Amino acid sequence: MKVDRKEVIASLGGEAAVKSMDHEARADALEDFLSARLEAVVAARKGNTQYPTVAELESKVDSRGYRRGVGRLFLHEHSNKTPTVDESKLRVPRLKPMPAKPTLVDFFNYRFASTAHLLQSAALAKRRGVSEDTILACLLHDAAQALIKTDHGYWGAQLFEPYVSERIAFAIKYHQALRFFPDADTGYEYPESYYQTFGIDYVPLPHVQRDYQYARNHKWYMDARLVTLNDLYSFDPNVQVSIDEFTDIIGRHFKQPEEGLGYDNTPVSHMWRTMINPDQPL
Ligand SMILES: [Fe+2]
Ligand SMILES: [Fe+2]
Repeated sequence: MKVDRKEVIASLGGEAAVKSMDHEARADALEDFLSARLEAVVAARKGNTQYPTVAELESKVDSRGYRRGVGRLFLHEHSNKTPTVDESKLRVPRLKPMPAKPTLVDFFNYRFASTAHLLQSAALAKRRGVSEDTILACLLHDAAQALIKTDHGYWGAQLFEPYVSERIAFAIKYHQALRFFPDADTGYEYPESYYQTFGIDYVPLPHVQRDYQYARNHKWYMDARLVTLNDLYSFDPNVQVSIDEFTDIIGRHFKQPEEGLGYDNTPVSHMWRTMINPDQPL
């Protein structure tokens, strides 16, 4: 918080009044000034921010031409960010064809949406010196949102399960539930943006509450918690991170199938093919 010297002096009754005060009195007065100012800022912020209620968000369901849980690959980039925009004139861009044997990096380059968020989260985790497993979990944590946003932690864990360690899949799965629950010991706070996204009076769904409790008592709790800790502060339009920074970690911890993702006949290959060909009619 910036402090204007003149403003402080004026609030204490002018130069002469300040000169008559001893050191301790001045320090106390400055502290009072600062806390009053802080309270004013907080009050102003509360007054200016009109968060919707759950009921208000729910009432918008009938005025949208899409469902909020749909994957980013299937939506125009403005959809869901600016729900009031007239969707009828928006067009999704044609997608570039993918290589015959697509790798994880190809999906970063051609299909995953909001890759900046994934790359920034992983870069922050790397700077903080967490394990390579956790860095990869951060890099992949929201990747399934290209396919579907609803329950994206669960979809994401399933999508990556055949190719990463059980521990990485755990962190991806449970980060979704953990995001709703503060943890003062680790410095994790409820995300302010969730008041806007879910409504000011939102209560997490029963399965999210149940899975939070499960993860909270699990030996890998911190793996999932670290994803949320590196997630929250990772949206910076001025930071450019390249996937090349993570090719070594991907090489060591992601089992890239020889046939290419989508063509390796695992229980999740169809999910990758859906992302390769989202224009396929059936
Ligand atoms: Fe997420
Ligand atoms: Fe995220």
